[in-house]
Amino acid sequence: MYRFPLARPDDVDAWRGSARAAALANVAPDDISWTVEGETGDLFGGASGDTLPAATLPPFTVPKRFLDLAGDVALHRDPQRFALLYAMLLRLRDHPGAIDDEADPLRRRLDLLAKEVRRDIHKMRAFVRFREIDGAYVAWFEPAHHIVRANAGFFMRRFATMRWSILTPDLSIHWDGETLREAPGATRADAPDGDPVEDLWKGYYASIFNPARLKTGTMLKEMPRRYWANMPETALIPQLVAGAQARETRMVDRIVTGGNMTKSLEALREEAAHCTRCGLYKCATQTVFGEGPADADIMIVGEQPGDQEDLAGKPFVGPAGQMLDRAMAAAGVDRSRVYVTNAVKHFKFEPRGKRRIHAKPNAGEISACRWWIDQERAIITPKRTIMLGTTAIHSLLGKSLTLTSQRGRDLVLPDGGVARATIHPSFLLRMPDKSRADEEFAMFVEDLKAAAK
Ligand code: URA
Repeated sequence: MYRFPLARPDDVDAWRGSARAAALANVAPDDISWTVEGETGDLFGGASGDTLPAATLPPFTVPKRFLDLAGDVALHRDPQRFALLYAMLLRLRDHPGAIDDEADPLRRRLDLLAKEVRRDIHKMRAFVRFREIDGAYVAWFEPAHHIVRANAGFFMRRFATMRWSILTPDLSIHWDGETLREAPGATRADAPDGDPVEDLWKGYYASIFNPARLKTGTMLKEMPRRYWANMPETALIPQLVAGAQARETRMVDRIVTGGNMTKSLEALREEAAHCTRCGLYKCATQTVFGEGPADADIMIVGEQPGDQEDLAGKPFVGPAGQMLDRAMAAAGVDRSRVYVTNAVKHFKFEPRGKRRIHAKPNAGEISACRWWIDQERAIITPKRTIMLGTTAIHSLLGKSLTLTSQRGRDLVLPDGGVARATIHPSFLLRMPDKSRADEEFAMFVEDLKAAAK
C-alpha cells in the first residue's frame, strides 16, 4: 500500500505530483491511501507506506478541463475526492477522450463535487458580513468545503484598501492592505457581534442581485430567511423583487408584441452585467451600462464610471454628472431624451487609504469595451454622438487622438454616425481658476448646442 500524505485539505498541487508519479508507475487506485492531515479516512493511522516503484510508462498529458475539474474537486470535503480524481486520471491516461463522456458515472460524480464547491465559493462571496472593530473589519463564516484559501483573492481585490479578517472553523485569513496571512481556524465566539457594515453591503448586494434570474423559491433556498436578520441588504429585497417583476413584465410584453430594439438593449445590459472581457471587472462593484431611451437621437459618451457611478450602477450621477447636467440644461438638451453611456463600463481606480482614485483606462481596456459600445450604437443608431474627452474619442474613432485636433467640427465615425468631440466635464472640476473655468464651461455649452442642433 502506498501512502500519500497531503499537508493541506485543498492541496491539489501535492496531489498532482504524487498522482502523476503513481500513474506513471501504473499503481492501481486501490493500492493508494490519500491522507490529509486532520481528516478521517486514513486506514493506516499514520503508518508510512511502501516506496513507490520507478515509472514504467511513458509521460502523458491530460486535458486542461480535467485539471480545472481537479482544482475544484480538491476543495470538497468528501474524503474520497483524491482517490476519485486518481481513478479519473488513470482513465484519462489510457483514454484522453473519456473527459467528454458525460454519462460516465465517475465523471458525473466528480462534476457534482465540483458543482457543490463552486456553489460554496459563490455563497461565501455573497454571504460574508463584516463587522467593524477599531477600523478593521471582521467576518465569521462557515463554509461547507475547503474554499477559504481559493476565495481569498476575491476578497483581497474587492476590499483591497481595508484591513479585514475572515474567521472560519478550519482556517482564518487576515488582510492588512498589503499582505494576506493565514491563521488557524477560529470559533464563532472569536468574531465580534454588532451591526454589519451596512453601506458596504447594500451597494455590493444591489450589484450582484440579478433581477432577470429572480426565483423567489431558489432565493429562499440559497439564503434561508433565518439569515436575513443579520444581513442589512435584505431590507432591499422587497424593492428589488418588485423592480425585477416589473422589468420582466416589460421584457415579456416586448417579446409578445413582436419585440423592438429596447428588448435587445435590455438583453445587452444583462449580458454586460457579467462582462469579464478585461480585468477591470475584478475590482469594480458592477458594470455601469448606458442609460436612456433606445430611440434617443443623441448619444453622449463619457470615459468610464467614477466612484459614485460604480456604487450606483448608473452613468454620470457623481460630480462630473452634475456638471454635465448643468451644461446640458444650459444648452437646452433634455437628458431624459439622451442616451448616456461610457467608453469603458467598469470603474478603474487605485486604492488610496479608504478612497478610490480614478485611473485612466488603457488602450487594451478601451478596445475590450468597444464590444459593448458598438452594440449599444447598433441598437440606438443615434443621429448625433457627443464624445466627452479623449477616451471617448479613442473608443469611437479607434485611435488615440488629441481633443484639439478633433474639436469644433462634425466627425464621421467608422459606423457612419456623426459625432462631435468636446471636453470631459471632470476637466472643469479640476480647474482652480474660477474665471477660466467659467469660460471653459461656456465653450462646453456651445459644443453641446452645436452637437445637438
Ligand atoms: N465620468 C465619466 O466619464 N463617466 C461617468 O459615468 C462618470 C464620470
